[in-house]
Amino acid sequence: MAVFYDYETRQYSLHTANTSYIMQEREGFLVHLYWGKKLGGDCSYMFREQGRAAFSPRMENCEGFILDDIPLEYPCWGRADMRTPALEITNHDGSVIVDPRVVSHRIIKGKPAIKGLPATYAESDDECETLVIELFDPVGGIKVELYYCVFAQRDVITRYASVTNRGEEPVFIDSIASASVDFDSINFGTHCRERNIERAPLKHGRFIMSSRRGASSHVHNPFLILTSPGTDEVSGDAYGFVLVYSGSFSAEIAANQFDTARAVIGLNRESFRWKLEPGEVFTSPECVMSYSGDGLDRLSSNFASLFRERLCRGKYRDIRRPVLLNSWEACYFGFDSERLMLIGDSCAELGIELMVIDDGWFGKRDNDRCSLGDWFVNEKKLPGGIKRISDHLAKKGVKLGIWFEPEMISPDSELYKQHPNWCLHYNNRPRSEGRYQLILDLTRKDVCDYIYDSVAAILREGGISYVKWDFNRNMSEAGSPLLPADRLREVDFRYYLGLYSVLERLVTDFPDVLFESCSGGGGRFDAGMLYYMPQVWTSDDSDAIERLKIQYGTSLVYPMSAMSAHVSASPNHQTGHVTPFDTRFTVALTGSFGYELDPTKLSDEDKNKVRETAAFYKQYGEVFARGDYHRLRDPHSENCSAWCFVSQDKNVCVAGYVLTHVRLYGNNERVALRGLDPDAIYKEKFTGAVYRGDQLMNFGLHAPTTLEFHSILWVLEKQ
Ligand code: GLA
Repeated sequence: MAVFYDYETRQYSLHTANTSYIMQEREGFLVHLYWGKKLGGDCSYMFREQGRAAFSPRMENCEGFILDDIPLEYPCWGRADMRTPALEITNHDGSVIVDPRVVSHRIIKGKPAIKGLPATYAESDDECETLVIELFDPVGGIKVELYYCVFAQRDVITRYASVTNRGEEPVFIDSIASASVDFDSINFGTHCRERNIERAPLKHGRFIMSSRRGASSHVHNPFLILTSPGTDEVSGDAYGFVLVYSGSFSAEIAANQFDTARAVIGLNRESFRWKLEPGEVFTSPECVMSYSGDGLDRLSSNFASLFRERLCRGKYRDIRRPVLLNSWEACYFGFDSERLMLIGDSCAELGIELMVIDDGWFGKRDNDRCSLGDWFVNEKKLPGGIKRISDHLAKKGVKLGIWFEPEMISPDSELYKQHPNWCLHYNNRPRSEGRYQLILDLTRKDVCDYIYDSVAAILREGGISYVKWDFNRNMSEAGSPLLPADRLREVDFRYYLGLYSVLERLVTDFPDVLFESCSGGGGRFDAGMLYYMPQVWTSDDSDAIERLKIQYGTSLVYPMSAMSAHVSASPNHQTGHVTPFDTRFTVALTGSFGYELDPTKLSDEDKNKVRETAAFYKQYGEVFARGDYHRLRDPHSENCSAWCFVSQDKNVCVAGYVLTHVRLYGNNERVALRGLDPDAIYKEKFTGAVYRGDQLMNFGLHAPTTLEFHSILWVLEKQ
């Protein structure tokens, strides 16, 4: 059992294999006592009433209970806690108070689904146990239910909250967090940024990472990790929070005058307000939390394996993804059927399994100024349609994929002529364009149906095995004229309910199609999208050297199989970096693998490389898809980057190293691997050298130190 309640002490204990999370009811409040390494027993003594008022009011009839100095599980605004709340409500009388107290709890086997929202799931009731604590505010008639789903074997607890209006008048939810945790110390740093890592000491005040862009965004990613100062990959405390949501969010860590810290993560209150009618329920997105006492490596693997196995779904969840070639950097908008078929022929010759037609196949689209929304084939460019190309490829054993940007509308489009009001907008305001496009109003059912129907129509024609689903601007003037004035701040959340409903229909109706999410690269690389699409185009920056940091940061919480990474041309189109083929390959191997170049233009030598590398990926694909990933060198702070994948049975290890900056005569670089069987003998595939596992982990392998942007790939197989 993972969840325990002690009636005498009113203590709730959530235990996983290595961690414990302890709460207690006091004065009707749900108080946080502990989160960390596993422990047992009565933890009441951990509660410390210090009477530190410092201008903060005391609770009535309760000397010493100073709400502002008490670690609360789900702090609500309006009483005397001055810190950031998890819940704010404006009652029908205008009062801004919500004061729910514990009334009951229940323990459920398994994990309930969250209606309309993406969430982690259990495949059997034994995998997870859920504690639901019910609180009630009789004055406002507000019921709050806190869900704690405990994946005991995975050291993960997920949380969300639901609010029910049991009163007789509507109320407004002004803000609602998915999780809030109070720590009794501020001895932390923070990890953040869209996957280029920044680590900062926690100071007094509030540190907020957020997006109000109507997307999780390139700028900040909806996760937060708190570490103790010395935490590294293999030692120290790390507390992680990941939000399962793709829209505007906020992740805050704040330290107050009592040197305590509160982490709050959830919807961004700046772009949210929800009118809750009597009898209605609002449920927050899920927040996935994990604690590791053994550093970041363990924390990442807790998140990555849960997301890979119990968030991603569908037939591609557990298998190596096809080796693909994407047409974008190969020809941008400049293609026709003949050129695509030639590229397809090369794919067949080189062992590439799937060719993707990127942007430019529909409407009259020859550049990015028109046609989004017109999801019919441009017969001038592709006479005979997509089917002609897929039939041609099928004969050669190559599958076809296709790009869509279904949430968008170009003002220069047939769709816009027919439905100028189908975009997000306010009637009396201008409509700002981003990349010459507007965003469709997915709060509307007719618009969602149009999106489903137009994508489904193309997929029903047959011959398409893969969809790249793009989203190339963020929201502004995000109004929806069909909504009444007092519901306009619901647009951000309603938009995502609409999007998720469309995606659910598509993934259900087209179970054989592999969906890849994209938003100008990784502008919506979040756990919400992973529920529908098991991989994401990690970044529009396809430069191998730049990707080192991006992929390193992404690996903190997301599975490697979710990161699409392609070998692109050299010089690279974004940075101009010239890198050897082997380095581009070594870096692209760390994700779902493919090519982003025109194979018909390659030298014979490079063609051979493509052939060899595609074969290599197929051979070791299982290790990349399901193996454990270990970060070995940090490109943010070192002159190199290194990592390894180890198969779950520890029989195969593939390790990569890239030298990003040469320091002449500078070092005797060696890379110590992780996760191997210490007593086993491993043979390196390319050199034939043999090593013991403990040698590889404690001394390591010599790495090249002389040629900038050069790399080495080691394959170690157990003898
Ligand atoms: C975005 C994507 C690219 C490509 C273009 C097409 O920028 O990230 O990979 O698909 O759109 O317009």
